[in-house]
Amino acid sequence: MSHSSLHTERIGERLARLARPGDVLALWGELGAGKTVLAKGIAAGLGLDAADVSSPTFLILREHRGGRLPLFHLDLYRLENADLGTTGWEETLESGGLTVIEWPDRIGAALPEDRLDVRLEHIAETKRAVTLRATGPRSAELLEEFRGSLGA
Ligand SMILES: Nc1ncnc2c1ncn2[C@@H]1O[C@H](COP(=O)(O)OP(=O)(O)O)[C@@H](O)[C@H]1O
Ligand SMILES: [Mg+2]
Repeated sequence: MSHSSLHTERIGERLARLARPGDVLALWGELGAGKTVLAKGIAAGLGLDAADVSSPTFLILREHRGGRLPLFHLDLYRLENADLGTTGWEETLESGGLTVIEWPDRIGAALPEDRLDVRLEHIAETKRAVTLRATGPRSAELLEEFRGSLGA
């Protein structure tokens, strides 16, 4: 359970510190659930400036370089089905960075098989339920490491 934006950012930071090249985080949740807040924390955890991460108005994919790993931030909210083919997002998966996807439902069956699903649910004003679920061997490893880091 996250009790504040800062708390959600800290979860993102922790995940980012454990991330390896090629990792994919899919952020699920309604508008205002905190997906972009989490993405900012992820940026900070990679040593990037969190303020550079926003909800892109026109851009679907933004690259943030200069951190421990390149961060590829996809926000598919405004994506029409037909547009996905032109974003080049699939190449990002092979680029040795960390790919973070907001509105992953827009991708459907093309979503990477091994990814960490992060679900954010609005519980109250500043309270969000955060659920992590691994979908393959690498994400299971990341989830285990995340779990292990919580006691530290
Ligand atoms: N515990 C929390 N975690 C994340 N965001 C929170 C939390 N409590 C309040 N908020 C607020 O909810 C909003 C989440 O916005 P945003 O991250 O842009 O959502 P999304 O990207 O999911 O549409 C922000 O205004 C943030 O300050
Ligand atoms: Mg957002």
